[in-house]
Amino acid sequence: MTLTVGVIGAGRIGKIHVDNLRGISQVKVKSVSDVVIDDLESWAKEKGVEVLTTNYEEILQDPEINAVFICSPTTTHANLIKEAAACGKHIFCEKPVSFSVEETEEALEAVEKAGVKLQVGFNRRFDPNFRKIRELVQAGEIGTPHILRITSRDPQPPGIDYIKTSGGLFMDMAIHDFDMARYVMDSDVVEVFANGAVLVDPAIGEAGDIDTAIITLKFANGALGVIDNSRQAAYGYDQRLEVFGDKGAAQADNNRANTVEVSTAQHVSKEKPLYFFLERYTQAYIDEVKEFVASILENKDVICNGLDGLQAERIAKAARQSLEIGAPVTLQPTGKSTAIY
Ligand SMILES: NC(=O)c1ccc[n+]([C@@H]2O[C@H](COP(=O)([O-])OP(=O)(O)OC[C@H]3O[C@@H](n4cnc5c(N)ncnc54)[C@H](O)[C@@H]3O)[C@@H](O)[C@H]2O)c1
Repeated sequence: MTLTVGVIGAGRIGKIHVDNLRGISQVKVKSVSDVVIDDLESWAKEKGVEVLTTNYEEILQDPEINAVFICSPTTTHANLIKEAAACGKHIFCEKPVSFSVEETEEALEAVEKAGVKLQVGFNRRFDPNFRKIRELVQAGEIGTPHILRITSRDPQPPGIDYIKTSGGLFMDMAIHDFDMARYVMDSDVVEVFANGAVLVDPAIGEAGDIDTAIITLKFANGALGVIDNSRQAAYGYDQRLEVFGDKGAAQADNNRANTVEVSTAQHVSKEKPLYFFLERYTQAYIDEVKEFVASILENKDVICNGLDGLQAERIAKAARQSLEIGAPVTLQPTGKSTAIY
């Protein structure tokens, strides 16, 4: 069977998904929609896209299309999910589903009602190292997990215009770490205590955001976690993770272009980490799309579903609240959200 796909939003991430979808023999990327298409014409032609349109409804109304990729800005996601679900399309939606837990819940209800698949774009779940750590934890290799430690630092902050519409550090950046925390620990987060500062660029503070954070977590299984975030690491994209348990620890270091270590009388050095998410998570982006396609063609569960998207948003919201009140915020591990999906 061929899976025919339409992509809504052909910016940075939409174009990557188009490339990765084209690498899968059972997939045809038929249509792409964007609000501005003049500068996309030669790109679309080169990628074999048959329909390039400013009207996403052309994708949703096309009976040949089985699945849509929602890669437009976050503020558009929830409505597009509802519309795509109503049209019976399977959905891959970039993270976060929305900036509002209530809007996300409504979108997930529409997905549930339509009985279509929804995968949320937490690509780091598909990173081979992080996946391996989850498997080790699940196999009991490090015993009962006690501590999770995630370091997640960007090489440079985005522009201020992006910061203003990003939803803030917790919802835009740390949300990947919140999802990763739940994924590797295989346990829900029940308490968040966030501390934040503006240490990189005062303009980020003037825009109402922070650029540096330490977030501590408590998990339903009793373990503790700590995430440290910065919008600017001088040496590149710093993505490390460790789970420590009563029988040992498993840790993933940064990925580098090569693993050569040079030792001289003056210093010991090695390559800097791969620069940013496009380089660091190349394989994860390929695998998340492959697995989404397989989930449809083989009727399997998706690896990152709507509930995962919702839970990460709830943690991000709680982190913001914690920062504002200067105290830990408790999250209910069950309740309407988790009971339904
Ligand atoms: N998973 C990840 O690693 C990752 C990385 C980057 C971005 N993202 C997410 O992907 C989404 C897009 O981010 P981006 O960096 O690609 O942004 P971008 O600005 O590069 O691209 C967004 C595109 O959507 C188009 N667009 C705007 N409104 C639209 C609409 N109503 N219908 C169709 N197209 C529309 C824009 O013209 C633009 O081409 C965001 O939700 C972001 O959080 C995820």
